[in-house]
Amino acid sequence: MAPAKIAPSMLSSDFANLASEAQRMLSFGADWLHMDIMDGHFVPNLTIGAPVIESLRKHTNAYLDCHLMVTNPLDYVEPLGKAGASGFTFHVEVSKENWQELVERIRSKGMRPGVALKPGTPIEEVYPLVEGENPVEMVLVMTVEPGFGGQKFMPEMMDKVRALRKKYPSLDIEVDGGLGPSTIDMAASAGANCIVAGSSVFGAPKPEQVISLLRKSVEE
Ligand code: DX5
Ligand code: ZN
Repeated sequence: MAPAKIAPSMLSSDFANLASEAQRMLSFGADWLHMDIMDGHFVPNLTIGAPVIESLRKHTNAYLDCHLMVTNPLDYVEPLGKAGASGFTFHVEVSKENWQELVERIRSKGMRPGVALKPGTPIEEVYPLVEGENPVEMVLVMTVEPGFGGQKFMPEMMDKVRALRKKYPSLDIEVDGGLGPSTIDMAASAGANCIVAGSSVFGAPKPEQVISLLRKSVEE
């Protein structure tokens, strides 16, 4: 079984204090920091880009799990590679024509390629990317419509996670959106091992307890 990775979504942090928020999450036991990059076009929200990743990289060696909610992911490969991103997860909906080139370029810049899919996208669309000669190393199953934190988890997405886990026993499968103490068991038993959690972690009086509860559920 793929090891558990708990990834607080920094979208729910205080962006004005990003470095200390990151340190706080790592001290609470986070494995990865999930960085939501949105272009105001693929999704109706605008967040951060390579300059912020570069600034944060100066303060931490942590794995920066970048989720690209952008229309032209290829344009972000070089700047994010230079900035020190660790994972580069692009959306399958905008990469049908060029995913092979994308994966190759991501890897050549020293990042780990992943593919994400929106709730309305069938799981079959990512299979070629997992099975290719130059495969992605993670599939991110969106469990809300991408764009904003704090939305309600969509349990019907667990069919996708189950189908993926059945086909690929050691693949990193990430879930993102609405994860927290009341939904983690559904995701973990379906087979997800990388857990993104924004509002449930940052909004908790004791985020460290939420992080350890999420981990326990995945590891059980
Ligand atoms: C949504 C983002 C998520 C978001 C999750 O488009 O991809 O990473 O920050 O936030 P919560 O955990 O609050 O749903
Ligand atoms: Zn995300």
